Amino acid sequence: MRILSGIQSSGELHIGNYLGAMRQHVELQTKGQGIYFVADYHSMTSVRDADERRRLVHDLVLDYLACGLDPAASILYRQSDLPETCELTWLLTTVTPMGLLQRAHSYKDKVAQGLQPDHGLFAYPVLMAADILQYNPELVPVGQDQKQHLEMTRDIAVKFNQAYGEEVFRLPEPHILESVAVVPGTDGRKMSKSYGNTLRMFWPKKRLRKAVMGIVTDSTPVEDPKDTAQTVFALWALFATESEREEMFVRAKAGGLGYGDVKQDLFERIMGHFGLMRERREEFATRPDDLEDILAAGAIRARELSAPILESARQAAGLGC
Ligand code: ADP
Ligand code: TRP
Repeated sequence: MRILSGIQSSGELHIGNYLGAMRQHVELQTKGQGIYFVADYHSMTSVRDADERRRLVHDLVLDYLACGLDPAASILYRQSDLPETCELTWLLTTVTPMGLLQRAHSYKDKVAQGLQPDHGLFAYPVLMAADILQYNPELVPVGQDQKQHLEMTRDIAVKFNQAYGEEVFRLPEPHILESVAVVPGTDGRKMSKSYGNTLRMFWPKKRLRKAVMGIVTDSTPVEDPKDTAQTVFALWALFATESEREEMFVRAKAGGLGYGDVKQDLFERIMGHFGLMRERREEFATRPDDLEDILAAGAIRARELSAPILESARQAAGLGC
């Protein structure tokens, strides 16, 4: 079974991305042939600095490896190392109805957030369809927020198959990750790099502690009962067992528990949870040449899988000889 997914390198990976996407990518890699990529073409819709783009790709590759992606078993590659994905994007663009793209929630959301509504942002789902369809994967694990993009991919595949009368593309099954619903950020909104409210598990200890200590709370005095709906408890609970959670909530309601103590405990739990991954990341970071080798080998393996499918799309469309 082919399993395909990617993460856009548009900012530093945070705990929300880890719990909502990357952890599952890593867990799924034993279930079939994993194909994972760092979506740097997609990052062009928001990042406009070349050095920054390279740095973010490098960081995300390190994050994948630190989190346990095994480059010997799974394919890990940089999206732009397969420029033929852009050719397929064009083939798909020509069968994609405008109305389909106009209904995309993520496009509307990003424009509402203030991103420039350019053609790249509008066509983002078509590039994503090409990422996927070039492998005809059986499974595409994505977070709930990407579900509509997957449905669009299926619609685009149907349009292409209908236009050229051939079953070139398989309709991919979305595998919606039912992990934690939404990880809140330090200010209580959804944790997102666009809100500057993230906790990054790979930050230096001091910076991470400072961010944890900055989690917004109400001003209930220490001796009073605490509202367990506070963000700090939601974040803490992500790293606690069910029984620890119950115990904590009893303590919170009884009064006498300071938010500072909960934050300190959360910080220690994050350090514990990601300790091994932090070490692995530091180790990989000392071997930049190995990272490039992993990406180069990943691109070769990815191309072996995608080339025949791209060729059949070209043939079906009457391109080339
Ligand atoms: P961001 O909102 O930080 O820009 P992305 O939109 O790039 O994150 O999301 C990358 C992946 O991480 C997506 O698959 C998404 O489902 C997941 N994700 C992002 N933020 C969260 C969050 N706060 N909680 C759970 N999952 C998240
Ligand atoms: N749009 C996805 C995100 O923001 C990243 C992505 C790009 C992707 N192409 C993909 C995910 C193909 C799955 C399959 O997280």
